[in-house]
Amino acid sequence: MTRLTEVWQDFNLRFENGLKELYVQHGEPQNRLFEAMSYSLNAGGKRLRPFLVYQFCRACGGTETAADSAALAVEMIHTYSLIHDDLPAMDNDDYRRGKPTNHKVYGEAMAILAGDGLLTDAFRVLTQAPLRPDRIASCVGCLAINAGPWGMVGGQVLDMLSEERELTEDEVRAIQTRKTGCLIKAACCMGVICAGGSIEQMKAAMDYADRVGLAFQIRDDVLDVTGDAAKLGKAVGVDGEKNTFVRLWGLERCEALIRRQTEEACEALSAFERPELLRELAEYLAGRDH
Ligand code: IPE
Ligand code: IPE
Ligand code: MG
Ligand code: MG
Ligand code: MG
Repeated sequence: MTRLTEVWQDFNLRFENGLKELYVQHGEPQNRLFEAMSYSLNAGGKRLRPFLVYQFCRACGGTETAADSAALAVEMIHTYSLIHDDLPAMDNDDYRRGKPTNHKVYGEAMAILAGDGLLTDAFRVLTQAPLRPDRIASCVGCLAINAGPWGMVGGQVLDMLSEERELTEDEVRAIQTRKTGCLIKAACCMGVICAGGSIEQMKAAMDYADRVGLAFQIRDDVLDVTGDAAKLGKAVGVDGEKNTFVRLWGLERCEALIRRQTEEACEALSAFERPELLRELAEYLAGRDH
């Protein structure tokens, strides 16, 4: 087992327990909503964004406890974005994280509300973090700007509006940075904030996130063509008419770009004393098959 796999497994135990404790049933009349929210949250997934929160917090000398709430919050926002992304009005997907999509089980209206619930509750979790008030406020601002209309939601809108025409490279990048890059950036930056890291460390986290985020979405687009649905837990071959990186550049150039972005991500890590694990993570993500 590599050190990365070992650390990731330990993190997963802690994180999955934290997730399960979020919505223990209290006999609330709206229990069906909590059930729908928990269904998608507890369906698995790589948990990359929360892992990044913990790793950047650790790299800046912070504890796991300091990272817990920001890690939960970013995964809640990511899960809501997937529930809404899969809706018939958006990508209309039936399969996610190896299970039927939220709206297939709970219906469209409940899936919309489960997403709304996760989005709002992420900020409740964040404001209750055992951190200094100024760090909580910074995390709230960081997550809000990266998840909302300036970030992920903005990217989803650009993605939707571009479906009818072929885009330029700059346009495809503008979509990717927002729809995928921004939440990855929020995760890395919140890790630094939770630990009270330096400006240099924050800058390094942003550079790393930009590169890993781009490589991550290129790989997501490549896997839609070359991947295995069982491993991915979602359908493949569904991006057909979309403005993906594969459509723009073809598979070979995509592979070369993933390599280059990964190398640059690793170079950005010199602000940290022990960057080995984050380096290993970037390499692992570059070659992932799920
Ligand atoms: C899928 O994200 C959506 C994209 C931003 C490409 P992930 O590949 O991280 O999905 P999970 O969390 O592992 O299900
Ligand atoms: C979704 O991108 C990104 C967000 C959910 C914000 P995709 O539509 O490519 O993600 P998948 O392929 O359905 O996971
Ligand atoms: Mg989509
Ligand atoms: Mg989709
Ligand atoms: Mg995709």
